Amino acid sequence: MTDPNAPNVLSIQVDRATDAPIGDQIHASLRQAILDGRLAPGQRLPSGRDLAAQLGVARGTVRVAYERLIAENLVFGAGPAGTRVGARPPVGRANDEAPLDGPLAAFTRPYSSTPLPFQMGVPAHDAFPTKLWARMRARAVRADAITYTAYADPRGEPALRAQIASHLAVSRQMQCHPDQILVTSGYRHGLMLALTALRAHGRKAWIEEPGYPLGRRALELIGAALEPVPIDAEGMRVKDGIARAPDAFLALVTPGQHAPLGVTLSPARRHALLDWAAAREAWVIEDDYLGELQLDGRAAPALAAGEGANRVIHIGSFSKTLSPALGLGFVVAPRSLAERLVEVSAVLAPAPNRTTQLAVTEFLADGHFLRHLRRMKALYAERRNLALAHVSEFLPNSLAAGLGVIAPLPQLADDNAIVDVARAHGLAPSALSAWHLRRTHAQRGLLLSVTNLRLDNIDAACAKLASIVASH
Ligand SMILES: Cc1ncc(COP(=O)(O)O)c(C=O)c1O
Repeated sequence: MTDPNAPNVLSIQVDRATDAPIGDQIHASLRQAILDGRLAPGQRLPSGRDLAAQLGVARGTVRVAYERLIAENLVFGAGPAGTRVGARPPVGRANDEAPLDGPLAAFTRPYSSTPLPFQMGVPAHDAFPTKLWARMRARAVRADAITYTAYADPRGEPALRAQIASHLAVSRQMQCHPDQILVTSGYRHGLMLALTALRAHGRKAWIEEPGYPLGRRALELIGAALEPVPIDAEGMRVKDGIARAPDAFLALVTPGQHAPLGVTLSPARRHALLDWAAAREAWVIEDDYLGELQLDGRAAPALAAGEGANRVIHIGSFSKTLSPALGLGFVVAPRSLAERLVEVSAVLAPAPNRTTQLAVTEFLADGHFLRHLRRMKALYAERRNLALAHVSEFLPNSLAAGLGVIAPLPQLADDNAIVDVARAHGLAPSALSAWHLRRTHAQRGLLLSVTNLRLDNIDAACAKLASIVASH
């Protein structure tokens, strides 16, 4: 007789070749089995240990999947009677409430409103100048209410564009006119403007391997053909890009500090990239997400500074330097593209929220931004040194990278499973393999942002992570 709890009866399919974390796949299969009625109310689920052994996955991965089902009221813990299926949810309701679990689930998964230890992409929660910012926002709300009843400039407030141009001259050595600047709701908005203006559909684009998954996905959504180019200690291996796809029309790069490995594009590679773009009339999109926020030494000038800048679209963001909650960034267009970008912005996606723009203008004009960056650099450097010392004790090959630490793992390790388990324990490391297009050859590892590690939580966070890693 067939065991009703065998994974094949439950149709649990674990596909290690896809982008979806294994824990998510187990959760989705069980969820579907419950909703389809293949698992009846009251029926006992296999024990976590049994299911993990049958599927060949870590016990923690199964436990996290069960915990999610419990949180959704689909199953309940019945003590010694195991984990059992709950009363059948009303038809339709569960589907309406089903979480969207696509390939980017790891990036859209709800976090607590207070960022978790190791969570990437967020600044120090405890060091944001809340009072100062609240004052500036209040003033901006009043100014906005009194002044405007008309459409705003789709490129953004002129005063903010002027402040950004001055700041870029000082911090990124870029010479640009405020009319080349478009204010956006962040990097992703800027990327959308650029890809639309460049008509990227159906054309080849170099991307970094590994590289920022949302940038890669943006190119896929717009219908570009991706050519992953490897990264080494000098950044993107431009020669490899030229060998594989010399006719690409675009390269999407993080030359200042590679995301996520942290290396800076070497001077030789910068020249090679800009020479290729000039010769081929190709475009380079510079993702300058960290700007001058570099913890070791002075940040290299932007790729869009100096010779060759006429082929570079520079995209900046206040997400890391201030906060992603602001939803503010900017594009600096080369002169030849500026009008087309303005058209795309005016027609499809103009500059966002004028109040935030006015508040950030004052923040820049009064010198608070430079002061804040200086403080954050010192704070993050301290947190990174401390974290590296702790993490190196249980993952000895760990390295500092950008605003975090990278802990490489053996090729057979399942970094996604470790991440799933860590999330259930209130930690938010990221899996290095998820930053690769070619998942089968992907490097495994943990990306550990240090921005939210404080003296009062670092010991506990590192100890917990150490025990999770040890159990894998
Ligand atoms: C590589 C990279 N680019 C850009 C961004 C910022 O994106 P946005 O300005 O859309 O928040 C991030 C944030 O995590 C990032 O890691």
